[in-house]
Amino acid sequence: MEWKNAIRVSKLKPDKPKMVNIGLKTLMVVLKNGEYHATDGLCRHMRWPLGLGGKVVDDCITCPLHQTTHNIRDGELVEWSPFPLFPPYGKLVGKMSKKKNLKIYNTRVKDGNLQIKLR
Ligand code: FES
Repeated sequence: MEWKNAIRVSKLKPDKPKMVNIGLKTLMVVLKNGEYHATDGLCRHMRWPLGLGGKVVDDCITCPLHQTTHNIRDGELVEWSPFPLFPPYGKLVGKMSKKKNLKIYNTRVKDGNLQIKLR
């Protein structure tokens, strides 16, 4: 697979995730501690776009909808849908999809562009 331009690096601010599309793929990119990361763009729980309100803290991205959290370095699931807190509704929402890790992608910077290697 070849490297694809995703976004100008000048458009990325530290810890602020953004959504990008490459062909039919929707991805989330973020600059964290001087490193660029790229993951699948849609939350593995119920497909919320992680670049819209997702919080990046301690190498993890947390979805704003039900707080599912994944590590952005290896895509490992950290916490699955702990919110909302109302027990009956929260349990139901948490079970609406199977627990999954987030796919991650290699990144590099070339000519001022963040490039992503799709698999
Ligand atoms: S859609 Fe992201 S946690 Fe539910």
